Amino acid sequence: MSVGQETRADGIRAMFDQIAPRYDTANSVFSLDRDRAWRRRAAQLTGLQPGQTALDLCTGTGKLAHELVPLVRPGGRVVGIDFSPGMLALARAREPDIEFRQGDVTRLVEADASVDAVTIGFGLRNLVDRDAALREMRRVLRPGGRLVVLEFAPPTGPLMAAYRFYLGRVMPAVVRLSSASEASAYRYLAQTVEGFPQPTVLARELDAIGFDVEVQRMTIGIVAFHVGVRRD
Ligand SMILES: C[S@@+](CC[C@H](N)C(=O)[O-])C[C@H]1O[C@@H](n2cnc3c(N)ncnc32)[C@H](O)[C@@H]1O
Repeated sequence: MSVGQETRADGIRAMFDQIAPRYDTANSVFSLDRDRAWRRRAAQLTGLQPGQTALDLCTGTGKLAHELVPLVRPGGRVVGIDFSPGMLALARAREPDIEFRQGDVTRLVEADASVDAVTIGFGLRNLVDRDAALREMRRVLRPGGRLVVLEFAPPTGPLMAAYRFYLGRVMPAVVRLSSASEASAYRYLAQTVEGFPQPTVLARELDAIGFDVEVQRMTIGIVAFHVGVRRD
């Protein structure tokens, strides 16, 4: 990573440390309590079986990792990785049975072809170097292993204006009621949604890196699941 990228990554980590204590509540409120169903669907799409190994990247407070655990039991293993100590402290307190590790997902320590599934929920759009992270995900997956990306997908067409207003104005305004500095974090999150590639574009990126890709949408299309199977 360049010095500029390192500086941006430091800023993102500090922002997540700051919003960590209220992150889960804000998610439930702003998603109108749909976020659990989204993470559960992402877990199901991994096709994980008992005894297998899964990595949940940008795990945050560990909520998607939590949905993976019943799929790999008995005998399997779920590892959650994130670079924010604030988010990880909450994950560890809540999920003592899961191994959480502090680390940068653009530099994984796992061996080549050593895991059966990789998940990343609402993490990809926060990455300073998405391409490096996606290449790492492919490297650690075994051939035939699955990557599941859960992300917001801005709707096109008539719903776009209402969605933008909700994300860019309503969410930061509600957050500002309790904390002015966190409102800027939520404005940043809205911008990352706007700047993130549309599902078809991300699917092409994944294909170019070496995944066979299928895209599904949920909740009037505002979230997308990219399921990538590692090609040999
Ligand atoms: C929006 S949160 C998503 C958390 C969780 N996956 C969920 O479903 O709610 C994004 C997370 O990505 C983490 N993150 C961003 N860039 C990272 C990187 N390069 N390496 C590791 N974690 C990163 C942040 O610390 C933050 O916890």
